[in-house]
Amino acid sequence: MSPVRQWVSHIVADITISAIKEMAMRAAGIDDVASLTWGLPSFRTPEHIRRGVARAMEADADIGKYALPDGLPELRQLAAQAHLGATGVTVDADRNVVITAGNMQGMNALLHVLIDPGDEIIVTDPGFASHFQQIRLCGGMPVYWPLKTDEDWALDLDLLPGLIGARTKAIILVSPSNPTGKIFPEDDLRRVGQIARERDVLIALDDPYCHFTYENGECYFNLSSVPELSEHIAYMFTFSKTHAMSGWRLAYMILPETLKRQLLKVHDATIICAPRISQVAGTIALREEPTHLKEFEAALARRRDLICQRLDNVPHVFEYARPEGAYYVFPKIVAEHEDSREFAIRLLEEARVTVTPGGAFGPNGEHHVRMAYCVEEDVINKAFDRIEGYFGR
Ligand SMILES: Cc1ncc(COP(=O)(O)O)c(C=O)c1O
Repeated sequence: MSPVRQWVSHIVADITISAIKEMAMRAAGIDDVASLTWGLPSFRTPEHIRRGVARAMEADADIGKYALPDGLPELRQLAAQAHLGATGVTVDADRNVVITAGNMQGMNALLHVLIDPGDEIIVTDPGFASHFQQIRLCGGMPVYWPLKTDEDWALDLDLLPGLIGARTKAIILVSPSNPTGKIFPEDDLRRVGQIARERDVLIALDDPYCHFTYENGECYFNLSSVPELSEHIAYMFTFSKTHAMSGWRLAYMILPETLKRQLLKVHDATIICAPRISQVAGTIALREEPTHLKEFEAALARRRDLICQRLDNVPHVFEYARPEGAYYVFPKIVAEHEDSREFAIRLLEEARVTVTPGGAFGPNGEHHVRMAYCVEEDVINKAFDRIEGYFGR
């Protein structure tokens, strides 16, 4: 028997690779799969960013070197300005901003700061599956906060106070939501903020989809624009989606000064700094007007219309709520099935379509699947032609 098992910690042995990656890996062994699994936009990093980096590669003698642990001063300054523009709240580039290697790494560092073994972090259910694993990796426990299934995944504010206990350290929020596409209304978010402040827990605001709100831009609310919450929020913006830079691994975090000092210890002990070349790319991205965004959003709006139309044609397979933002739809499976995993694997093996099993996003997500419509329209059409071929029209 391999000795490896005895080396592996119980914590790692007990977590699973995310269902998103599991489905992607399963699909890799099958020819010509139409994939709606991965939230990886089809867009290329905008040209002005690529060209700017190419120029910097020649001109900047330091581009291949480490940066300061909290990031290039110019990028932190630009992040502080972007945050002021987005929220009206002034933050200090030195005291409150950290450049991270993506929101996943930022969240991971934050959870390491917060969690002692057995501590609890509240997550929406359904919520972003990787957060659950990150919490467990730090020795913590995700506490599921069920969203209202009968109200298109709204926050259930009556439940929240009862979920906060002596070991609760934080509440993680994502709006627009992955996996449901729900945008939580301002009043609800303000109420969460109020509760967090009264009960002294941190809100970790993971915000990859703030620019993908379609006709619902007015409904989007950035909770870190409430100045009274400045000591109770760690806000995370990523370049992955807005600037089509998922492979560059770059994000920024805005957080209270005392928390930043603690976070830098984790950052330094784990990755030292976010890749400098990506920080240079981020500097270009924030310095220039994001003219590409209109194009991205228009393309995603067309894909959202298309996927909703195609879902409308298969009411015997899926029931769904039209997503308000992000680029996911989270339909309920009404066709015969055992559970969402069995359904997703069958769909892959028998119809060559991948979706992500909803059970991976929390117990409340069971009997649903997540479809990412950030892929090209022909992929969406191919997936639904096959779904119709398999289940009939
Ligand atoms: C809610 C959420 N957080 C974080 C990430 C990953 O962000 P990053 O690429 O910045 O690590 C994603 C990507 O799908 C996401 O949906």
